[in-house]
Amino acid sequence: MTEESPVLYQGPKRVLSGVQPSGDLHLGNYLGALAKFARMQHETDTFIFVADLHAITVWQDPAKLKDQVREIAAAYLATGLDPKIATIFPQSAVPEHAELAWIFNCVARLGWLDRMTQFKEKSGKHKERASVGLYTYPVLQAADILIYKATHVPVGEDQRQHLELTRDIAAKFNHDFDAPGFFPLPDPVTQGPGARIMSLRDGTAKMSKSDPSDNSRINLTDDADAIAQKIRKAKTDAEPLPETMDGLAERPEARNLIGVYAALDSRSDQDVLTEFAGQGFGAFKPKLADLAVAKLAPIGLQMRSLLADKAQIDAILADGAYRARNAAAPTLAEVKAKVGYWAG
Ligand code: TRP
Repeated sequence: MTEESPVLYQGPKRVLSGVQPSGDLHLGNYLGALAKFARMQHETDTFIFVADLHAITVWQDPAKLKDQVREIAAAYLATGLDPKIATIFPQSAVPEHAELAWIFNCVARLGWLDRMTQFKEKSGKHKERASVGLYTYPVLQAADILIYKATHVPVGEDQRQHLELTRDIAAKFNHDFDAPGFFPLPDPVTQGPGARIMSLRDGTAKMSKSDPSDNSRINLTDDADAIAQKIRKAKTDAEPLPETMDGLAERPEARNLIGVYAALDSRSDQDVLTEFAGQGFGAFKPKLADLAVAKLAPIGLQMRSLLADKAQIDAILADGAYRARNAAAPTLAEVKAKVGYWAG
């Protein structure tokens, strides 16, 4: 230990993540995020929200936004999050996020935000036309995480830079306000089965809701026929499957389908290859289609039945918001005292 070594955060492990209510969720979201949330809730205190504050950084139809939030909440529930175990809530119902974000706007530096690649991608050629909210989006994300003093954040690889910014903000706050170890420096949790699910039409591009081809992805709301058909149509090659993953190095589409099978069946890629080695896609695809229908069709059905009873979803979200506020309020009170603000 040197004198400079920062005092480390001493609080408990806590998981937090969120998904934006914009557009349909797909297989990549399920395997890379939602399934992970459902697993982690059994190990750690878990907060999972619907990011409707982030959503309006680009235009959202006010008449649709609440239903979009309910749809994400239904997906959380249908993929195994248990509202008795995890705290599930809409971000806009917990004003502490926005209040902490303001203070963090004054901690973060312009130079830090100027480096954010997601802003550059999303704002495109005309950044002067982007909302200011889109620019400070990662600062709000830091507030989402740190208002609960979360230590572990399950997210996709594309969020690594936002987590680095979160750590920079936490460290600078702790330093500037003479509060060593006050905020944790949270870690992204990006590994795990299904971390990189690729497009069914192009094994080198991530599965994405913004891909114009609906055949490139399996949506969580697709019915059994649609799921099976998309797998039948998935791009592949004419070679039989090899015995080891090395043999798939130059075959991104084949590698992706093996990865999807393995993640859906909670097995290793190698285990799946060992079963199918020597067989072609004519044999493999029907097996994958059966597996995908068995695992995914019930999720779509469950989502539809949950969404048929809005009052029930709303009650779950209201209870989650109540619990989230109780967890967030003490952090905000401590922060305000440190900054020299009037207590609310
Ligand atoms: N930016 C995240 C995404 O696009 C969504 C998000 C907002 C988030 N706030 C968060 C994720 C806090 C984790 C923690 O996926």
